[in-house]
Amino acid sequence: MQTLDLSWLNPDGSCGARRGKGIVTVRGGVPGDRVEVEITRERGRNASGEVRSLIEPSPDRREAPCPWDANCGGCDLAALTPEAQLAAKARMVQHTLRLDETPQIIGSPRAIGHRARMKVGLKDQQVGYRRARSHDIVNIDVCRIARPEVVDALNRLRSWLEEHGPLPFPEVEIRSDGERAVYAFEGSRRNVPSTLASIGDVAVGGRSVFGDATLTLNVLGLELRASPPSFYQVNLEGNELLAGFVRDTVLASNPARVLDLYAGIGNLDLSLAVAGVPVTAVELEGAAIRDLAYTADKLGVSDKVAVQTMPAERYDLSRDFFDVLVLDPPRSGAPGVLAKALMTRPHTVVYVSCNVASAARDIRPLTQAGYRLEEVRCYDLFPDTHHIETVLVLRR
Ligand SMILES: C[S@@+](CC[C@H](N)C(=O)[O-])C[C@H]1O[C@@H](n2cnc3c(N)ncnc32)[C@H](O)[C@@H]1O
Repeated sequence: MQTLDLSWLNPDGSCGARRGKGIVTVRGGVPGDRVEVEITRERGRNASGEVRSLIEPSPDRREAPCPWDANCGGCDLAALTPEAQLAAKARMVQHTLRLDETPQIIGSPRAIGHRARMKVGLKDQQVGYRRARSHDIVNIDVCRIARPEVVDALNRLRSWLEEHGPLPFPEVEIRSDGERAVYAFEGSRRNVPSTLASIGDVAVGGRSVFGDATLTLNVLGLELRASPPSFYQVNLEGNELLAGFVRDTVLASNPARVLDLYAGIGNLDLSLAVAGVPVTAVELEGAAIRDLAYTADKLGVSDKVAVQTMPAERYDLSRDFFDVLVLDPPRSGAPGVLAKALMTRPHTVVYVSCNVASAARDIRPLTQAGYRLEEVRCYDLFPDTHHIETVLVLRR
């Protein structure tokens, strides 16, 4: 056991502590804690370990705001005050991107009840998050970060399970458009009990089986279709701010033609098309790109939107001219994509990232080629957790 002071937050939610000339990566505490740590792995000067006991709590800790106290495997930063959470995340982004100054961080418009999508596990008659590093279900009946209609839907499902018995699905995503919550179960459409219709709109394996599990999301005044498998940002009000910033940044750069990689349902590009800018949207998921094309048609901007269903990494960047590139990849980032983007030399690149560690890696070919990282803005779409959305604006 070693006594360590947890000094900073890492992009993966662990904390960093100095030990002599090395660093220990520690799971289980929050920045500011003095803790007793069991070292699980030594690597030269550096090591990793797990908190075994709290010796002196961080001065930024608060009373546990939730009865589950992060035992459900969720909210790993809930023990910190909201201000300390924002400060820790902004410092983490600064450190990861090696910025001279702490970037601007915009808090979530909703402090609680901000999650519009929630993926939960099912086992027997239990439904809830899975405990960290475990398959156990924590049978939560309240969740302060989920929107109220999502929690209601969760409890409706639990009541159904108690009455009818287990379902043959490992997981369900409860998805809300801000008012209406629907269920998207993973699994086969065979053997879906007809009584499940009583809980509401249900999709299984990506398609509606009872009612209509397709949502309409309002983003920047546009109604975007989101069918059951399609990604959308979990924090609707936070997304409005983020999408507005991306739109304004792109339009201010006077684009002739925009390429949007990892486009989803068109969250970041349909507003550009509506403003008259031709866009090409590249997305892997067929359902999402069909949503995007459907919405473009409804908005009357199909002539401004070209769609490509393919991995963004395989898109041939040299086949068209683009002066602005927007990309918003999943947590693993966009390996190799920005090196290829150098072939077309867009004057502006807007990188929206939910994992600043992969973004820091991905932008290196651009900065090495002389692009400047002109603006970095963080949007806290995930209060009480270590996650943070970061927008990086690069220009040549
Ligand atoms: C973080 S989401 C962003 C979606 C959209 N830009 C938005 O703002 O809602 C990432 C999207 O990339 C898609 N995706 C994942 N891997 C991909 C890949 N290799 N190539 C293209 N799209 C991919 C996912 O289906 C998802 O829609």
